[in-house]
Amino acid sequence: MKRTRLIAALDTQSLEQARAWAEALDGHVDAIKLGMEFTYAQGLNALRQVAGDRPLFLDLKLHDIPNTVAKGLTSLAPLGASLLTIHASGGSAMIAAARQAIDAAYPPLHRPVLLAVTVLTSLDQAGLHEIGIEASPREQVVRLGRLAMMAGADGLVCSAEEIAPLRDALGDAPVLVVPGIRPAGTDANDQKRIMTPRQAAQAGADWIVVGRPITQAADPAAAAAAIQAELASA
Ligand code: C5P
Repeated sequence: MKRTRLIAALDTQSLEQARAWAEALDGHVDAIKLGMEFTYAQGLNALRQVAGDRPLFLDLKLHDIPNTVAKGLTSLAPLGASLLTIHASGGSAMIAAARQAIDAAYPPLHRPVLLAVTVLTSLDQAGLHEIGIEASPREQVVRLGRLAMMAGADGLVCSAEEIAPLRDALGDAPVLVVPGIRPAGTDANDQKRIMTPRQAAQAGADWIVVGRPITQAADPAAAAAAIQAELASA
């Protein structure tokens, strides 16, 4: 069975903090995630400084007209990120343009995994209704997941609860990246639909994204190592 890999989300505006976490976690995580908070505060060069040779999940969730998303992804190519995100709800033309931009601008052996975000985990049924969508969150995730994969995405970002329905609908093809993970006994913080690392691995996640349970631990490296041990025994 394939191994579920661990991404540490380094959510901070501080270059020093991000660097310190990245160094402390060397050898204990499979990739680091940096997103809007860090990028808007520190810029693209700082992403390079923190990532160095480490695999980078650059989570900027692009969502615009196809040409703009394609050009945006082209501008990000020098960073050499391993995983990148766009919003599936941008539609098939936008996703296909993203696919083409990656195939054209990134070296074949270093193409990032193009991930489509399905439904934000902060949206529930009422939140979807508010924006004119009457499907349940789960139905909408499967619908957008199918659309994104047909339009050329490599994988999807989903909550742990949606791993099984997506695997039922789409099989093993999508790379599934899953946040909202909490080791047993740790604080849920603001996450609502959570699973333990073991549960997510057993459900078929390819990658899990873990932020505060690692970064706010007294010993982040030990917290990451414990999660890896749990994944290895799943
Ligand atoms: O600290 P915590 O483990 O909750 O961090 C989870 C990370 O995953 C954060 O960086 C958050 O932005 C991200 N994420 C999420 N839910 C999504 C997409 C990304 O929690 N649907």
